[in-house]
Formats: sequence, C-alpha cells, structure tokens
Amino acid sequence: MRDSSFFSAVTLLHIFPGKERKPMSETTPIIEMQNIKKNFGGVQALQGVDLVLHHNEVLGLVGDNAAGKSTLMKILSGAYIPDEGEIFIEGKKAHIANPWNARQQGIEMVYQDLALADNLDVAANVFMGREAASVKLGPISIMDEHYMGQETQRLLNRLKIDISSVRLKVESLSGGQRQAVAIARATAFNNKVTIMDEPTAALSVAAIDKVLDLVRELKAQGSSIIIISHRLEDIYKVSDRMMVLRHGRKVCDTPVAGNIDDFRERVVAYIVGARDDFAEGVGKQQ
Ligand SMILES: Nc1ncnc2c1ncn2[C@@H]1O[C@H](COP(=O)(O)OP(=O)(O)OP(=O)(O)O)[C@@H](O)[C@H]1O
Ligand SMILES: [Mg+2]
Repeated sequence: MRDSSFFSAVTLLHIFPGKERKPMSETTPIIEMQNIKKNFGGVQALQGVDLVLHHNEVLGLVGDNAAGKSTLMKILSGAYIPDEGEIFIEGKKAHIANPWNARQQGIEMVYQDLALADNLDVAANVFMGREAASVKLGPISIMDEHYMGQETQRLLNRLKIDISSVRLKVESLSGGQRQAVAIARATAFNNKVTIMDEPTAALSVAAIDKVLDLVRELKAQGSSIIIISHRLEDIYKVSDRMMVLRHGRKVCDTPVAGNIDDFRERVVAYIVGARDDFAEGVGKQQ
C-alpha cells in the first residue's frame, strides 16, 4: 500500500507551498493594467482603462450596471482578450491568453455564478481541474480522495470557513457557504491575486459578514484582492482603495477613507456622473 503521509507531504509542497513570497520592491504593483480597451460590436465596454493593484491591497471596483467592471476583470483573468492595452504582473509584461494561462500566472477569478459543481462535494470542488491531486498508475490517473479531503479541511480551517464536512455536496450548502467554497477554491493554490465579482450579492446579512471576514482573513494572510460590489458599505468595510468605472472609463481612484456616509455620498456622485476626476481638462487618466 502507498504511504499516504509521504504522498501528502510531497504533494503538499507542490500545491500548498505556503504563503511566503519573493520580497518585492514596495513600489512595484502586483498588477498594472494600462489603457485597456474592449469593444463588443458597437458597444465600447472599456475605453482605455488603467488599473493598479498593490501587494497585499484590497481594491474595490464599483460602478453602475454595464460600466465595464466584469469586462475589465475578465480581461485580467483571461476570459476576454483586450483590443488594446497592456498588463504587467510584478512589473513584467504579461500575456494572458486564457483563464488557464491567468491561473498559471497566479490570477484567479471567482465569477458571480461561482461555477461550482453542485452534485460534487466540497473537496471535489476545491480540487476540480487540479491534476496535482491525482495519482498516476501507469497510464491511468485517479484522484486521491483521502488527500483531497485532508487538504480541503486544512484550507477551510486556515480560512476559518465554517462547513461541517468536506464531504457535503455543494448543493446542500447555504449561499454564503457556497461563496466561501468558491473563494477557498480560488485561493487554495497559492495564487497572487484573487478577483471576486459581487461576492456578497443575494446573501443574508450574516452571510455577507462572513464573506467580508473571509476577505479580511485572506488579506491578513498576504493576498492581493480585487472585489466588485454594488454594496458600497462592503467596499468601505474591506477595501484599502477603490476605483469607479462609468461608461467604460475610470472616473475615480482613491483611498477608502472618512466616515461611511461621506464615502457613500462621494462614491454615488462618481457612479452617476456628477463627479469625474479623469474628465478632459481635469487630468489624464493614470
Ligand atoms: N460577451 C459580451 N458580448 C457583448 N457585449 C458584452 C459582453 N460582455 C459585456 N458586454 C457589454 O459590455 C458592457 C459592460 O458590461 P460589463 O458586464 O463589464 O458591466 P458591469 O460593470 O460588470 O455591469 P454589472 O454591474 O451589471 O455586472 C455592457 O454594455 C455589456 O452589455
Ligand atoms: Mg458585472
């Protein structure tokens, strides 16, 4: 019989190498997107957007419906290819051809629909598509259930996610727990950047708080995160900085500061177009 503790230790080093990262210059952003443009037929979804994400920063991305938020993040996660513009990861020009390619470069996106397999259990969802969890027996490769269960439990513990068993089918989980599984899955394999598209939409107040706690926990453990939300108080609670898109343009890029009421009032002015820090004559987008 195979020595599973040896297998776990060896495989663990490959897929859970810990959170230590290469020391980086304080000033080199982990992500830089420059002049990103994207058209869909006649729709100019993005008209030359710049975005910077620093190491260990939580960036809130807000804007009205159709402002271009998801499109910008789908470009960063490889789901869409921009018509123009460049992306730099840790200062190096990156080519992100597809989602698999983005993942290889440390970028993971949690989509609004979560993309979980309802009929599979929590562990299988966390390891879905990860070949590191399979054992090769000649030409056949089989998933190591015991290993996946153990590591998923370890991951849930690390992120303080409250799910009673990794063997529960995802369809039996609450909305908040499902969101937590999708986030855990995205962050399980030592990624650099996690993008969350509306992680608190359609959740109860208690579940929202848990998801926000999870974002804080990930930041405490060194992650860099971009979070899209229509709920401004969520952005206020967890973000270091926020960016507003309107009609495919950046109109605001500012640290999150002040009290919640002033914050909300200011952000709404940008969302509806009453304020614009990057309009012609105000200054070039940067
Ligand atoms: N695959 C696509 N095909 C055609 N048009 C698209 C596609 N994806 C996005 N668009 C268009 O691009 C624009 C920006 O859409 P996007 O989904 O990025 O907005 P959003 O800011 O995420 O909005 P919401 O808050 O409603 O999610 C919209 O006009 C949308 O209809
Ligand atoms: Mg969207």
